[in-house]
Amino acid sequence: MISHEPILWNDDYLTGISRIDEQHKVLVNTLNEANARLAVNVTRELLEQITRDLLSYALYHFETEEALMREYDYFGQSAADAEEHRQEHRGFSQKVVALREGLRDDRLVSREYLLSFLNNWLIHHILHTDKQFGEFLQGHGYGAEPKTEKTDKSQESHKSLDSSPF
Ligand SMILES: [Fe+2]
Repeated sequence: MISHEPILWNDDYLTGISRIDEQHKVLVNTLNEANARLAVNVTRELLEQITRDLLSYALYHFETEEALMREYDYFGQSAADAEEHRQEHRGFSQKVVALREGLRDDRLVSREYLLSFLNNWLIHHILHTDKQFGEFLQGHGYGAEPKTEKTDKSQESHKSLDSSPF
C-alpha cells in the first residue's frame, strides 16, 4: 500500500513511451504539489481546486493513451487488457467526480485519504497497466513510424513542467 507521502519518481515507472512518461511525471508532480498545499490547510475550496485540476489533466492523459490504443489496435489485438485498462481510467474518473460531488455537499476528505487513494491508484496503474500497454506498443511498431511522435502542443502546455523536479 502506497502512503500519502510524496511520490519519489524512479525509472521503474517508465513505460518506454516518452509521451506517456512525460505526462506521468506531470501527474506525479501534480500529486506532490497537492500534498504540499494540503499540508498547510485543508479547505473545501482547495480540495475543489486540486481535484478539478487533477481530473482535467487525467482526462487529457487518458485520452492520449486511448488514442494510442486505437491507433495500434490494442482493442483488436489484446481485447481483455485494453478493456480492463479503459475501465481503470473510467473508475478513476468516476471516483474523483464522486469526491467532487461530496465536496459540493460539504463532505470533505482528509489529506491522508485523498493522497493515499490518488498515489496508490496512480502507482499501481503505471506499474501494471500502463507498463503492460507500453510493452504492447513497443512490440507493435511504436517508434518505427514518424507519425507516432506527433504531439498536440496546445494541450502539452496545459500544465507547466517548469516547476517539475524531474
Ligand atoms: Fe493508463
